[in-house]
Amino acid sequence: MAAKIFNTSEVQDFLRLASGLNQSGGNPRAKQIIHRILSDLFKAIEDLNITSDEYWAGVAYLNRLGASSEAGLLSPGLGLDRYFDMRMDAEDEALGIANGTPRTIEGPLYVSGAPVAQGFARLDDGSDTAGHTLIMHGTVYGADGQPLPGAQVEVWHANTKGFYSHFDPTGEQKPFNMRRTIIADGQGRYKFQSIVPVGYGCPPDGPTQALLNQLGRHGNRPAHIHFFVTASGHRKLTTQINIDGDPLVYDDFAYATREGLVPPLVERSDAASIQAHGLNGPFAEIVFDITLSALVDGIDNQIVERPRLAA
Ligand SMILES: [Fe+2]
Repeated sequence: MAAKIFNTSEVQDFLRLASGLNQSGGNPRAKQIIHRILSDLFKAIEDLNITSDEYWAGVAYLNRLGASSEAGLLSPGLGLDRYFDMRMDAEDEALGIANGTPRTIEGPLYVSGAPVAQGFARLDDGSDTAGHTLIMHGTVYGADGQPLPGAQVEVWHANTKGFYSHFDPTGEQKPFNMRRTIIADGQGRYKFQSIVPVGYGCPPDGPTQALLNQLGRHGNRPAHIHFFVTASGHRKLTTQINIDGDPLVYDDFAYATREGLVPPLVERSDAASIQAHGLNGPFAEIVFDITLSALVDGIDNQIVERPRLAA
């Protein structure tokens, strides 16, 4: 069926009707967004001659996506999370705001309420015996280049199986394993001991991977560590670092890798270094300083509120 009906008044009136634009009740913003997305969808159906079979396969897919709680995984996989970052970067550029540490996507696996530690935290509970000890530390700086004592560094990462506590299908991890909030010390320094995480992939039989297969794409991420960093007078930074040397560092299905977010990972096996960190064997060290950006006219103009798990 190649008939062109999208631009007829019948279809255009129908789109307004279906979007509630003829109704006084409801939410004007929701109407505006639905009208636009519905219009774009109708147009795509006509332009691409999308068949009923293809359309109903899509409807079944959405049901499967929701039932699997994978919408937050498909989103970065299709680049939408990265696109929102691009837009915020462009907004900053237009305002002449020079950012220090680059932002990158949050991902769907943050959990609020992690234990709080002063200056230093051990993130892992020692139960992941395949783990290689990691020491990561650095200084949080403000927009003026001065250290920020009391800055709050929230950190979370996966274990050596690529699973996060609270989302671990094996049930092996205790709550908040490899999740902490570290308050920077009087010199703005944070430090933690953990294990080097490994990368992970989308559930192989899940709907996100199924769609990626249709696109000829893999669904894997390089090993990485997530951060939220906050301090008074500054905007919240959402970012991640990648583990240097991971083969997927520049081939992340979620498009989170950015220049400046792949700090060197240095293997330390000398006695002095081991002793300096109170360890009893070789470890990997990452030094990563973080620079926040100032509030804009007294507010965080880019704060992102989204549903997040709290435990
Ligand atoms: Fe992650």
